[in-house]
Amino acid sequence: MKNFGLNELREMYLSFFETKGHLRLPSFSLIPRNDPSLLLINAGMSPMKTWFTGEEEPPRRRVTTCQKCIRTPDIENIGKTARHGTYFEMLGNFSFGDYFKREAIHWAWEFLTSPDWVGIDPDRLYPSVYLDDDEAWNIWHNEIGIAPERIFRFGKEDNFWEHGSGPCGPCSEIHFDRGEKYGCGKPDCKPGCDCDRFMEFWNLVFTQFDGDGKGGYTRLANPNIDTGMGLERLACLMQGVDNLFEVDTVRNIMLAVSEKANVKYGEDEKKDISLRVITDHIRSTTFLICDGVVPSNEGRGYVLRRLLRRAARHGRLLGIKGTFLADIVPVVARENFSEYPELTEKLDYIQKVVAIEEERFAATIDSGLDILDSMIKETKTAGADTLPGEDVFKLSDTFGFPVDLTREIALEAGLGIDEAGFEALLAEQKKRARAARAAMGDLGWT
Ligand code: ALA
Repeated sequence: MKNFGLNELREMYLSFFETKGHLRLPSFSLIPRNDPSLLLINAGMSPMKTWFTGEEEPPRRRVTTCQKCIRTPDIENIGKTARHGTYFEMLGNFSFGDYFKREAIHWAWEFLTSPDWVGIDPDRLYPSVYLDDDEAWNIWHNEIGIAPERIFRFGKEDNFWEHGSGPCGPCSEIHFDRGEKYGCGKPDCKPGCDCDRFMEFWNLVFTQFDGDGKGGYTRLANPNIDTGMGLERLACLMQGVDNLFEVDTVRNIMLAVSEKANVKYGEDEKKDISLRVITDHIRSTTFLICDGVVPSNEGRGYVLRRLLRRAARHGRLLGIKGTFLADIVPVVARENFSEYPELTEKLDYIQKVVAIEEERFAATIDSGLDILDSMIKETKTAGADTLPGEDVFKLSDTFGFPVDLTREIALEAGLGIDEAGFEALLAEQKKRARAARAAMGDLGWT
């Protein structure tokens, strides 16, 4: 298989769909526009919902993008396995009431298997369709020529795409066979198996409904196409590497982190986790700040703060003294220069925001970590399995330790935290603050 760099693959994809009449648009911002249902953009189609529903006119009926995405449902697990990251890019081609299943499937196949494009061996690819979607099944079998035993039918969980409310529909996914060495060895191992052998990497959604997020669906006037392929996943397959962190551009960022910490990747699993956490989080935070998010205690700002503080703590675990995250930002900008020159244009600003947050945290992190450490010891000595709510509150209130970080560190030590006790103290504090503000208002100070 040919080995393409991540930046090269992005360019190939977008130009392929330009040859099919699509308008290429730059990635939208990570901050959703007029969409209170979403904290951050998490799929290629998210910024285009109104074009799908018909509320707004798209600039053309065929559009292609490579969209910056952030998904943070499981931040605690990022780094622990090499599979996931919070930041990734999604390649997509979209039809707004123009072409439908036939073209979407034919073009996906052409891009993947034609020697003029990506040139993957068709024997390594397996499509799946939604249970009763005979139309898609027939296209894969009769028109593309895939044998029936290589086409899988999956249920709603796998092959019906919806994210909260909005446009959704049945989908057809394309899986890549990474080979037996990634497999579980079970005789019935096949696409859909939990193991690492068959990797789903391109989702073709046949967007036919507008979902209300509660199980109600209205048929859209025009069926649409929304496809999404993880750019890093495609790069993984093409470069024959194990995971996201070994993809060329991401590896270069991780290399800069390893040099800073003076450790090598692949020698010690604990250190590898920290290297992956920092690499992933510095990618997402660099892009978030570039798009205008600033650290704060709620919403997007809190996601950013949490990512930066988690990365800073893992720097400590690697033995890095002092602040270092801002020094990695130029590497993120360099690796992404061809598509996102704005990172370089705003480099000073991004570095400054990272540095300020890191310094604020650094001022307390060491003492905070020490205190948390002794709280954990005391809890264990007392034979309890939960860190008291007062301790958690004190760490957050006095030392600026995000509760998530306390929870994560406690968990690493085998303890839970008293969530209800902490929430109660937090609520009391908010009440006090409100009362204080009201009192100041009475004095005419607000
Ligand atoms: N919107 C679809 C996804 O995110 C393509 O998988």
